Amino acid sequence: MKGLATTVVVAAGNQVFICYNYLIMLKIENLNLKRGDKQIINNVSFEVPDGEIFGVLGMNGAGKSSLAYILMGSSGYQPDSGKIIFNGIDITNKTMDERARLGITLAWQEPARFEGISILDFILIGSEKKGHTLSEEYLEQMRLAPSEYRLRQVDKTLSGGERKKIELSSVLAMKPKLAILDEPDSGIDMLSQEAVMNMIREIKNYGGSVILITHDEEVVKTADRAALMCSGLAFKVGKPAEIIGYYKEHCKPCPTKVYPAKGDNK
Ligand SMILES: Nc1ncnc2c1ncn2[C@@H]1O[C@H](COP(=O)(O)OP(=O)(O)OP(=O)(O)O)[C@@H](O)[C@H]1O
Ligand SMILES: [Mg+2]
Repeated sequence: MKGLATTVVVAAGNQVFICYNYLIMLKIENLNLKRGDKQIINNVSFEVPDGEIFGVLGMNGAGKSSLAYILMGSSGYQPDSGKIIFNGIDITNKTMDERARLGITLAWQEPARFEGISILDFILIGSEKKGHTLSEEYLEQMRLAPSEYRLRQVDKTLSGGERKKIELSSVLAMKPKLAILDEPDSGIDMLSQEAVMNMIREIKNYGGSVILITHDEEVVKTADRAALMCSGLAFKVGKPAEIIGYYKEHCKPCPTKVYPAKGDNK
């Protein structure tokens, strides 16, 4: 099934109306996740159309990775309430594998999912096309020299940045409809940042969407829109420049965050 069609009407003066349709790939409605006393995700709602790069900004502990886990269906992150609609299908209760089959993938903030598989096989694990020559092309695209990796396994001997680049190579190979990238730029050397940006643009170019979690201002600027998360709330969504400006001006480390700590509300 295709995404939900939405019509936007723009009035220019009293006379000219422009109407266009776009398809909503992802629709999140009032998501909540509480663990113990902590409201980790607090009534989060937003939509991501086809072909959109949607940035997610916020301080450490704001709930960005938790939101990514909920969207991917990671174990322990079943929302307490709310809905996730993907291309018109309610996926709230679907497993991670079912979501992956629908075209959703998550590149983890700390990649550690697979051990003991060859790097070349790992890259094509979710790809319809096979062949080590292809894996090597994806490695090169992420600025890793195939000659150094073709005989190696995905294991603890890889550096953090190498693991991340290999994970991003596998996302590229998968050609996902929705790629959730949790800090894809963190731990990546300065000279390879452009490769990360190019892989994000490549997904957009074939009509895929990207949820791009990042702490980097330059990376957020490549998004079409962005959300600012704070204490589990996605409380502001807008153009990246607007969200960055608000974030810098208003979000200072604060012991109570949005909610008064116990005893603080006297
Ligand atoms: N399963 C859980 N049980 C209890 N607390 C949790 C659980 N998962 C996450 N948290 C807490 O929820 C908050 C949000 O965590 P999350 O990892 O989503 O933050 P983040 O925005 O990704 O931060 P960072 O920028 O540091 O990666 C943190 O305070 C974290 O300790
Ligand atoms: Mg995180």
